[in-house]
Amino acid sequence: MKKVGVALLGLGTVGGGTYRILVNNHDAIKKNDGVDIEIRHILEKDISKAEKLGADVSIVGTDINAVINDPDTKIVAEFFGGIEPAKTFLIKCLLAGKSIVTANKELFSKHWPELEAAAKNGKAGLYFEASCVGGVPIIRTLTQSMQGNNINSLYGIVNGTTNYILSKMSDEGLEYADVLKEAQRLGYAEANPSADVDGFDSMYKLSILSSLAFRTKVPINQIYREGISNITKDDIKFGKELGYTLKLLAISKKVDGKIEARVHPTFIKNDHPLASVKGSFNGVFINGDNVGDIMLYGKGAGDLPTGSAIVSDIVFAANQSKPQYTSFKNTNDVSDKGFSKNFICKYFLRLTVVDQAGVLSKISSILAKNKVSVNLMQQKNKEDKALLIFLVHKTHEKDLQKAISEIEKLSCVDSVDSIIRVEE
Ligand code: NDP
Ligand code: HSE
Repeated sequence: MKKVGVALLGLGTVGGGTYRILVNNHDAIKKNDGVDIEIRHILEKDISKAEKLGADVSIVGTDINAVINDPDTKIVAEFFGGIEPAKTFLIKCLLAGKSIVTANKELFSKHWPELEAAAKNGKAGLYFEASCVGGVPIIRTLTQSMQGNNINSLYGIVNGTTNYILSKMSDEGLEYADVLKEAQRLGYAEANPSADVDGFDSMYKLSILSSLAFRTKVPINQIYREGISNITKDDIKFGKELGYTLKLLAISKKVDGKIEARVHPTFIKNDHPLASVKGSFNGVFINGDNVGDIMLYGKGAGDLPTGSAIVSDIVFAANQSKPQYTSFKNTNDVSDKGFSKNFICKYFLRLTVVDQAGVLSKISSILAKNKVSVNLMQQKNKEDKALLIFLVHKTHEKDLQKAISEIEKLSCVDSVDSIIRVEE
């Protein structure tokens, strides 16, 4: 029987879930996977977290050298979060030949090249299933189940907090700020909610997933990012009336040989499979040239779902005889040439304007001049003003933005309230 010593770095949400699964499933893993996992070290500042879990407090400390100098600890699982000290600790462990399992998408998306270089140097493994979409086995699907495909596109709801907020705003007609607090209370949100609501968390995950999907490094600086904090319940309501559901989507696709990667609020048709991904659930919809469409769905956050992915990586790492690394050049220093920022999509626009003759014709002539073709227009009254809603046909981002900057200058336009991309 293979005995494998493990260190857990952090005993917060994910660390606690991992600990519980390792203890509760210890015998089943031993029987089914032939691995006897022993938790030999826990790094955690707050010892009461270990006490609450019933852990052996004699193995709890804060010194990474205790882990590095223990020859029987072969796998180090990290859930500190943030960049430092996680980065320094993990690099030290990798150089010492210890395999790493991490849930830390921020660290991984920003410093994957350095971590991989250290792993190669120490002949150690690097596993990150829990970094994207929590308990959903998306990383292994991309790396081990899609080899027979060129992936054309990946559309993901990869952040539970924002999906919870948007679902609740949509189902209960609530405003954004009221729902955010509840998401934090439920433990979905990152410590700094900006990571979730401003789209950083989705961007980190998209960088990792797209790199694997397209076998090309997609660094975070090549990803367009926009969050949900400006979304109003009215946008959601008006979209609904037109047959759309609003989601924060992480999108990457190959268009004319270039990669387009973006995170932004997106209207999708109500009957799109991702529209039914509600609450804190995540979903990833992938199109491969041979398999066609596939979708993975499940819990992208939380102690046990994320712990499930961590434990699967620990067992995987324990059973790997030779670690594998990326097949692509893993560098953040990529040329802009492989990426497109001038993406093409439909748009939903909401404007507040003066309600008088000629306003519509001024706006539509600017749209026409910039090659933006109107698919649908609705007017709603708002006190003494008019609220205009446009759905425009597929257009280049640059043309749309130019038209908007001209429209904003019209004296009859009070404000351009919303510009929301539509994917069909
Ligand atoms: P938590 O804040 O709940 O847990 C982190 C724990 O690590 C805390 O107990 C913290 O202690 C401890 N810690 C941090 N630095 C040190 C240190 N230097 N020495 C000792 N202990 C330390 O975070 P989560 O569990 O929520 O998240 C951890 C990671 O997992 C993050 O990278 C996150 O992005 C990722 N993740 C989280 C998911 C979730 O559902 N929460 C899902 C998927 C990924 P203290 O609080 O005292 O600082
Ligand atoms: N804050 C993240 C989310 C945790 O809401 O999805 C999982 O990465």
